[in-house]
Amino acid sequence: MESVAPYAIRYESEDKQELTLKPKTEPKTFRQIDEAAQILRDGGLVALPSETVYGLGARADNEAAVARIFAVKNRPAINPLISHVENLQMAQDYVEFEPLALDLAQAFWPGALTLVLPKRTDVIAPNVSAGLDTLAIRAPAHPVFHAVIAALGVPIAAPSANTSGKLSPTTAEHVRADIGDKIDAILDGGPTEFGLESTVVLVENGEVTLLRHGAIPAPAIEAAIGKPVLELTKSDAPKSPGQLLRHYAPRTPIVLNARADDARSVDFWLGFGDQSEYDLSPTGDLREAAHNLFARLAKLDAIASNGAVIYIAPIPHHGIGVAINDRLERAAQSVERK
Ligand code: TXA
Ligand code: MG
Repeated sequence: MESVAPYAIRYESEDKQELTLKPKTEPKTFRQIDEAAQILRDGGLVALPSETVYGLGARADNEAAVARIFAVKNRPAINPLISHVENLQMAQDYVEFEPLALDLAQAFWPGALTLVLPKRTDVIAPNVSAGLDTLAIRAPAHPVFHAVIAALGVPIAAPSANTSGKLSPTTAEHVRADIGDKIDAILDGGPTEFGLESTVVLVENGEVTLLRHGAIPAPAIEAAIGKPVLELTKSDAPKSPGQLLRHYAPRTPIVLNARADDARSVDFWLGFGDQSEYDLSPTGDLREAAHNLFARLAKLDAIASNGAVIYIAPIPHHGIGVAINDRLERAAQSVERK
């Protein structure tokens, strides 16, 4: 008989049923936190729930394990990974924090802000940061991810747990369907809260530069530091290798800023606040729309017939809506039209 593991109780949060680890009958989709940590310790790959999207984790100090992440995802070796730490104290063993970076970590960690900072040791495998002398680092807020890092005792390198270029996974089932047969375990922590990746910023010489829009809107960062967040200019592009790549694409073509009556009967309409069948948020709430976005696209992609198009309502360009539009624009760009 299956028993509920002790940590399912320990990490149960009052408000979030989704954080409860539910025992699954299929052992491949559920392992205990200690088992997950042991698999990682031995150089294996484990998909982990975070508050943003599911990550594909390996111990960050194991070059061979990290190389396997790139292989499983078919990820270009030039695109560096985020290292996930238990807390600021652990992070300080691996990267240099200038005062502004400390302010940001204190304001947003644990949470969905990734800081790109100068490396201070060679402990992290060089392929994690694609040979750069900086390291992207964040302390995830999800109790399961946090617990696995704490049990392991070293940072976990983890990109989103999807094949490169595809939609990021927001449920354990998305991970299983995409790369489940290529990795060692999936920890199911329920659907992720934000549904979009972390915001990535470079902190350098007293300035913060936005490298990737994400779950934390830039104005929230500006409010915390009391100064503007700089945008990346074209000549700075090498500072953010990931931004060069096409990304987040469903198989089905998508058209942005559309109107409901653009959709023919074979097409789909992804509304916003209009109570239509696949509405991203019936109440017009951007956080709810972000939470639903990738899952809804994945679902429509699975049921769309050849020749179908997904038409998407205009999404308000503020708050997390900026990151939603960023992802949608990348997805739309990657459409190869005949
Ligand atoms: O929410 C998230 O960030 C998720 C969860 C699992 O933490 N992870 C994630 O990782 O989205 P990934 O690999 O899909 O995206 C990492 C981004 C990429 O755009 C990459 O180019 C950038 O961070 N990045 C990583 N290290 C960097 C570095 N040293 N300098 C500049 N950009 C870096
Ligand atoms: Mg990704």
